[in-house]
Amino acid sequence: MNFELTVLPTEEVEKVSTHLEVIIVVNNNLKHRFVQDKKLLKKAGFSCGQNETCLLVEHDRLYVGANSLKGTDIRQASANAIKALNGSKYTNIAIATYTRKSCLYSLRAMVEGFILGAYRFDTYKTIKRKNPIKTISISLDAYHPREIDMIQASDLIHKAEITADATNFTRDIVNTTPEDCYPKVMADIAQEMAKETGLTCNILKPKQLRKEKMETLLAVARASRHTPRVIHLTHKPKNTKKVITLVGKGLTYDSGGLSLKPADYMVTMKSDKSGGSAVIGIMKAIAELDLPIEVHGFVGAVENMIGGDAYKPDDVLIAKNGKSIEIRNTDAEGRLVLADVLCYAQQEVQSDYLFDFATLTGASVVAVGHYTSSIMGHNKKVQKLVVDEAHKSGELATALDFNPYLKKTISSEIADVCNIASSRYGGAITAGQFLSEFVDKKHRQKWAHIDIAGPAFVEHAWGENPFGASGAGVRMMVKLLETLCKEEA
Ligand code: BES
Ligand code: ZN
Ligand code: ZN
Repeated sequence: MNFELTVLPTEEVEKVSTHLEVIIVVNNNLKHRFVQDKKLLKKAGFSCGQNETCLLVEHDRLYVGANSLKGTDIRQASANAIKALNGSKYTNIAIATYTRKSCLYSLRAMVEGFILGAYRFDTYKTIKRKNPIKTISISLDAYHPREIDMIQASDLIHKAEITADATNFTRDIVNTTPEDCYPKVMADIAQEMAKETGLTCNILKPKQLRKEKMETLLAVARASRHTPRVIHLTHKPKNTKKVITLVGKGLTYDSGGLSLKPADYMVTMKSDKSGGSAVIGIMKAIAELDLPIEVHGFVGAVENMIGGDAYKPDDVLIAKNGKSIEIRNTDAEGRLVLADVLCYAQQEVQSDYLFDFATLTGASVVAVGHYTSSIMGHNKKVQKLVVDEAHKSGELATALDFNPYLKKTISSEIADVCNIASSRYGGAITAGQFLSEFVDKKHRQKWAHIDIAGPAFVEHAWGENPFGASGAGVRMMVKLLETLCKEEA
């Protein structure tokens, strides 16, 4: 999909039968002078709702509704527009910039919406139906002649393309089946991406993992025919002042292990690599944006299976930092993998912020629903930073607070900590508190744990997201890191 900037009004962009004009009707404003087909739209019952579209084929015009000019609404509107054209013969779109005064803030959201909305996962379909739209001409002139800065506009489009492409890249990894995407493949994907973008990529195989004493990660991986990997991606421009570490749970499949998941709960567990996949996608975007901060991405890529060699409930494992963990449920495996990867990441890099991404608990989905990530940690400001930047980026997130009473429920009679809580309730928080045992003193106030179990993989389309993987975490973190760079300047 190509984006062109033009100074022609949308009606004057070259008119051929494959060209379509898209008009976003904001805030029920059917009376706006740009709405040329008022009568027809009324007849068709178009009432400008946020998720409404109306294609007037004879006039080559597509109307889409948006509640407001806010980024979230415009992003969804452009995603709806592009989806409405699936299967059509249109190849080109002309659209105006939807801005207030000369401010271009919604342009980025609009471009993101087009790319995110056009996403389709058809790897396993014999007939591939790509979205037909090849070129989108964005007219800068339509609403506010001469006020809009061309350079700023093309810069925003470029950033939007990088962010949305990275999100789609993450979606592809997550949607790939466990047969085709196991730890070695995940490492290969990261390595290939690093080669293309100029990142450094270091892969740790079992021998190095043993040397690094990552015994809990190795225990989770033991029953699988696929050996584990730890991926370390680095973006290190010269003269940077801030260092950020990202850690991702990359369970390429989570069967639950010997505490086997019931059949209904096992389906979709290819998505348990969403945190790690998000980290790979974020690193891709950071490299392409060439952000002036040092960013490290670590991924624990492991498959949790059953077998004669499986780790067991009743085992006691020793994590990399020497803490002993009583295993009472092998399905609480993500926290075990993350424990070791968090320790390794902190050993390798002293950072200003430490973020981990994981489809860690079903309890997070119960607590906040399918569309929202849960943000935990010891520092309210860091939690708030993540929540605010997530919202600006078009993702939903909410803070969940730790408390000392829940903390007691993960204590163990025989080891330093237990891998599951004694209570049925508050499971997202107790999982976060478990991870906290593996965050050292230096990083305690700099850490946020991001449970993306809700939004990472949803079995229906929602907003600008398709059925399946959404790429949760990518947009929120790209936005957050961009904000940290601005603070720096
Ligand atoms: N990968 C799952 C969490 C999950 C559940 C992610 C649903 C996405 C959707 C995790 O490894 C898990 O199984 N957690 C258990 C923890 C329990 C055994 C304490 C859970 O949430 O049930
Ligand atoms: Zn599990
Ligand atoms: Zn899991």
